Amino acid sequence: MAGGAGFIGSHFVRRALEHGDDVVVLDKLTYSGNRANLPDEVEFHQGDIAEPADVARAAKGADAIVNFAAESHVDRSVLAAEEFGHTNFHGVQVLLEHVRESGQRLVQVSTDEVYGDLEAGGSSKETDALNPSSPYSAAKAAGELLVPAYVRTYGVDAVITRGSNTYGPNQYPEKFIPLFVTNMLDGEPLPLYGDGKQVRDWLYVDDHCAGIEAALQQGAAGEIYNVGGENERYNIDVADLLFELTGADRSLLRRVDDRPGHDRRYSIETTKLRGLGWEPRMPFDAGLRTTVDWYRENRAWWEPIKSGEYREYYERQYGARLNTSSPA
Ligand code: NAD
Ligand code: DAU
Repeated sequence: MAGGAGFIGSHFVRRALEHGDDVVVLDKLTYSGNRANLPDEVEFHQGDIAEPADVARAAKGADAIVNFAAESHVDRSVLAAEEFGHTNFHGVQVLLEHVRESGQRLVQVSTDEVYGDLEAGGSSKETDALNPSSPYSAAKAAGELLVPAYVRTYGVDAVITRGSNTYGPNQYPEKFIPLFVTNMLDGEPLPLYGDGKQVRDWLYVDDHCAGIEAALQQGAAGEIYNVGGENERYNIDVADLLFELTGADRSLLRRVDDRPGHDRRYSIETTKLRGLGWEPRMPFDAGLRTTVDWYRENRAWWEPIKSGEYREYYERQYGARLNTSSPA
């Protein structure tokens, strides 16, 4: 499992352990990777997916590799894009070179952001053209484009999943839901980008992991599977649900300058993955309640994260924006 110490990867690892699978994790432990997300008994290798020797060491003897490793935050890619090419593109190529030799199956965990903005309506199908908008999503698209090329040229056994916006426990608090929840719990300002009428399709982390598992076990080589919650919401409406759950004061909400290149809407079709027997199960209100309760009860997990590197990032990302913000 590559990137197994991050948010979605660590949930997938726990799920695999519950199913009785042997799991080995390779993770570079970047700012969003956290060894504490994983049970102690997991075999763990600190290393880089873009380093062939690290991959060979960790993947030895495995039936399959599931690649969660990525630079995953759009706002960070706007501030500094270079690392995104290293991991999200070059790292995927190194993994493909590895499975080309080893014959192992590879699942490349990708994102619905590769389709780009769907403001005009409709939902993206797996056969639609890619039109990424940010350095993050462009690097993810570039990485995943290598997969069908390696399947066709070298006959590797690889599949792609494209997940929608995922939420749940253990998510690094730079992303919208955990940032808003933890700021609400601390009575801190809540930076809402632009008019707050951007639409995201929210998917509970366990449902995302179940979709990746279905693709791993049943997906055909070279195929792509959308994994979406079919749960489209305006950001401002998600914030309002979180106010209800946390009891925080609505005056904390600040309208700040928008993200450059901000996609207005994502929406994906999930018929193909449903054909493998998968469906999203967690209702949004129950998933949000579970998430808020987890952050309420696990300050020991996120309070240390919110100091150090996070503070510097936060100041860079939000300092000037919050100074010139207005009530939302
Ligand atoms: P995350 O940032 O929480 O975790 C990423 C993990 O990858 C971290 O543990 C980090 O240490 C590790 N990593 C980074 N660079 C590495 C490298 N070069 N070598 C080895 N490990 C490295 O991200 P996440 O939200 O859990 O996302 C996991 C995957 O799912 C990513 O590929 C992301 O693009 C994709 N995805 C995320 C979402 C979402 O909403 N979070 C939705 C769809 C798809
Ligand atoms: O769609 C899948 C993608 O979802 C994944 O591939 C990415 O890894 C993941 O980060 C996520 O990308 P988004 O950019 O959609 O997620 P984020 O949580 O950063 O933002 C969600 C929405 O909330 C988006 O419209 C921007 C807005 N937002 C975000 C932050 C961090 C705010 O209004 N204020 C904020 O402070």
